[in-house]
Amino acid sequence: MKKAFVKSYGCQMNAYDAARMADVLAAEGYAPTEAVEEADVVVLNTCHIREKAADKVYSELGRLRVLKNARAEAGRETKIVVAGCVAQAEGAEILSRAPSVDVVVGPQNYHRLTDLLVQSRQKRVVDTEFPVEDKFDHLPARRTHGVSAFLTVQEGCDKFCAFCVVPYTRGAEVSRSVAAILAEAEKLVRGGVREITLIGQNVNAYHGAGADGASATLPDLMRILQEIPGLLRLRYTTSHPNDMADALIAAHGTLPALMPYLHLPVQSGSDRVLKAMNRKHDAATYRDVIARIRAVRPDIALSSDFIVGFPGETEAEFAETMRLVAEIGFASAFSFKYSPRPGTPAADWADAVPEDVKSRRLAALQGLLDEQRHAFNAAAVGTVVEVLVEKAGRHPGQVAGKTPHLLPVQFDAPTSTIGTLVPVRIVRAGSNSLFGEAVPGAAVAGAAAAGAAAAA
Ligand code: 5AD
Ligand code: SF4
Repeated sequence: MKKAFVKSYGCQMNAYDAARMADVLAAEGYAPTEAVEEADVVVLNTCHIREKAADKVYSELGRLRVLKNARAEAGRETKIVVAGCVAQAEGAEILSRAPSVDVVVGPQNYHRLTDLLVQSRQKRVVDTEFPVEDKFDHLPARRTHGVSAFLTVQEGCDKFCAFCVVPYTRGAEVSRSVAAILAEAEKLVRGGVREITLIGQNVNAYHGAGADGASATLPDLMRILQEIPGLLRLRYTTSHPNDMADALIAAHGTLPALMPYLHLPVQSGSDRVLKAMNRKHDAATYRDVIARIRAVRPDIALSSDFIVGFPGETEAEFAETMRLVAEIGFASAFSFKYSPRPGTPAADWADAVPEDVKSRRLAALQGLLDEQRHAFNAAAVGTVVEVLVEKAGRHPGQVAGKTPHLLPVQFDAPTSTIGTLVPVRIVRAGSNSLFGEAVPGAAVAGAAAAGAAAAA
């Protein structure tokens, strides 16, 4: 049987796309494999967001070239596919830099993967034109994977932050229709999925066609999805502060399936830097959104993205970022040194912050964010929380799942609990995971939002 190895870098949407590419290949008779040396097709689903991420692709391609040659000597062919955002951004350049690559395919074109593999028998191919058709209409049904799944509801970005490649690699903002999303979600739940994370580069700008032709918002969509019998939890990511509409904030207080977790990138705490970044919001707006969301859901876990060392960022401006973090308090966060990306407005700006300054600022910021993360995890110790069990745990007899706050938990229980909600008392916070014990029948902290609202 033919085998396919698919590796994904970067964001959740890439993980989703990688799963869909595996589906395309499965429909052609390729069994998935985790052993790259036995794969007849190798797909690298790449990320272009920072230089480091993009560079990884070429070192991986170097290793794959050796593998491809070794397999060829044994009489076995290997097709190498570069997909994702580096494919979109660099296109044919990849073919000249990496002689082992057979197919370069962009994030909007992978529904054509089978055809491209056939074409590549004649000649190496690049497909990165934004197609007229919608790839989602041409993809095979999803094989379901596990208890928690991503579902793309919106793609692309019209915001054009000065540092970001996304508007160029993923294109303009497009929302899928409610009907298409509902059909995909229902299939996932029939296949055993109990938690769906709705994903999009600007997911809270979602405005897909609803049943009556009118446009539906993200809270409209979630209200419809939470009616699917068997679906226990909903999440969404990633959001922009300017699109945190009142109705979405209110949904955090009223939709029982919507988990108390919000990833809301702020990037910087300095208004001067935010303006230069073209974020179109200031720090006060961000603080206000957070205050309003905490008013309806006081226990919400907050997460964010930060960039340090944006061109011209002064020590005082960086201190404003630290102040914002100290004031708000995050359960988790991602933080990065600014990385100039080709084709983005900020790429050619003067006033680059020296590398050692960037490193120092990043270390300070990550120190503070780590402290906050540890404090957040430690606060869970002693509470009883509902854990959605996802898989067998690290040790025999253990299972692993997530709390409503998206914290991983390990505890002793049979694997028959996979896919169910189990009340768990948290007894210890490790560095990467919480540890607990099942307390069947116990009341849980942070119960469904509507329950909390009804009791109030
Ligand atoms: N340099 C550093 N970080 C970046 N991000 C996006 N572009 C860049 C860049 N050029 C970060 C932002 C974004 C996250 C997905 O990646 O924080 O929210
Ligand atoms: Fe990039 Fe800004 Fe769009 Fe987010 S909102 S994808 S950071 S351009």
